[in-house]
Amino acid sequence: MDVDVFTLFPDAFDWFAGQRHVRNAAGQGLRLECVSYRDNTPLSGGQVDDTPFGGGAGMVLRVDVMDAALKDVYGIDPVDLRIRRRVLALTPGGRMLDDRFVDELAAEPAITLLCGRYEGFDERIVQHFASDAVSIGRYVLSGGELAAMVVCDAGLRKLPGSLGHGDSAMEESFSAALGGDPEYPHYTRPAEYRGWRVPDVLLSGHHEEIRTWRRARSRERGSGGGTSLP
Ligand code: 6GU
Repeated sequence: MDVDVFTLFPDAFDWFAGQRHVRNAAGQGLRLECVSYRDNTPLSGGQVDDTPFGGGAGMVLRVDVMDAALKDVYGIDPVDLRIRRRVLALTPGGRMLDDRFVDELAAEPAITLLCGRYEGFDERIVQHFASDAVSIGRYVLSGGELAAMVVCDAGLRKLPGSLGHGDSAMEESFSAALGGDPEYPHYTRPAEYRGWRVPDVLLSGHHEEIRTWRRARSRERGSGGGTSLP
């Protein structure tokens, strides 16, 4: 899978790209490329944003700058690009990212992530250049970069062979294998710590009982709205 990230801050992805699971995914066919709007802006002095029409705080990423950046990388009119390739504008008001959406994106051969900054994008970018608008939650981040990393990380876990253990992504929280419920609780050694014992069934070696127990705990968490604490 090819992922192109358009951003004002390509360096922000250095840490993410260096993580072992991301490098592993690169070995399994993930290609993560960052493009800076400043590298091909048609405006002088590396300008990429402007003050909002109608007034208000902050700066808005310009539509002509995005047009030039996309055209430069893909060699076609961005209006046509979005028909051939998922082009996702990262914006707090977009479609909420969930496991189903991640599955959908991970099935694509290539995606493009557009990060806004400051007050975000000129709306014409979203209207004419993007195939989707994506949000990672109902709160506001200072830019789309962290959200783009969230989309990448959630997506690359779904690529075959990117996780060490073949089954790890299958029975993950919210997956179809768990009926959309969160994952069951995990335990490791020691089997008892400060009097807190690991559930006996997990030490029993009875695989069918363990499966049943895990499915029940997972369902409990799904209906109860998350992990319950004492
Ligand atoms: Cl995708 N971008 C920004 N700037 N803030 C967000 C978001 C995205 N999702 C939630 N908050």
